[in-house]
Amino acid sequence: MGTLTELTQSLQRCTAQPGFFDRFYARLFELAPALRPMFDLVDMETQQAMIHKGITAFLVTASGARKESEFLSSVRASHGSQGLGLGPRDYAHWVNALLDTISVCDPLYSPQLGLQWRQVLEGGIRTLDRD
Ligand code: HEM
Repeated sequence: MGTLTELTQSLQRCTAQPGFFDRFYARLFELAPALRPMFDLVDMETQQAMIHKGITAFLVTASGARKESEFLSSVRASHGSQGLGLGPRDYAHWVNALLDTISVCDPLYSPQLGLQWRQVLEGGIRTLDRD
């Protein structure tokens, strides 16, 4: 089975767990408390759907199906220096929070799967963090 199929299935197992995205944000704010106020006015239900879409876009990009989606270009614009002003440290927290959450939520998690996830997520972040 290909890596991306495995990761897609892992993501499905995670999102089938109630509270997966809540746990992700809780972990993110634990690792980076300064990010929390950015979400004060944000509807977290919509936000969870956005992150789900973002992770899926990372998987699609990693498959090489498309060089870069319009969706990820717009996230890069809204999150970069002309927008939210996020940088490498913020994105590193994002990746680590997500990996930690996957490791506790995926019942079939293994360190090997975690490494595959890290590669795909870091690859995706590289497409966002270049302005
Ligand atoms: C530490 C990292 C991140 C922080 C602090 C962050 C923060 C935010 C905030 C505050 C918003 C709401 C903006 C608004 O409504 O004005 C937002 C929107 C959004 N975020 Fe993030 N984000 C992060 C990483 C990511 C990543 C890695 C992705 C994609 C995989 C992503 C995808 C989105 C999308 C699709 C939206 C909605 C559309 C847009 O504003 O572009 N975010 N983010």
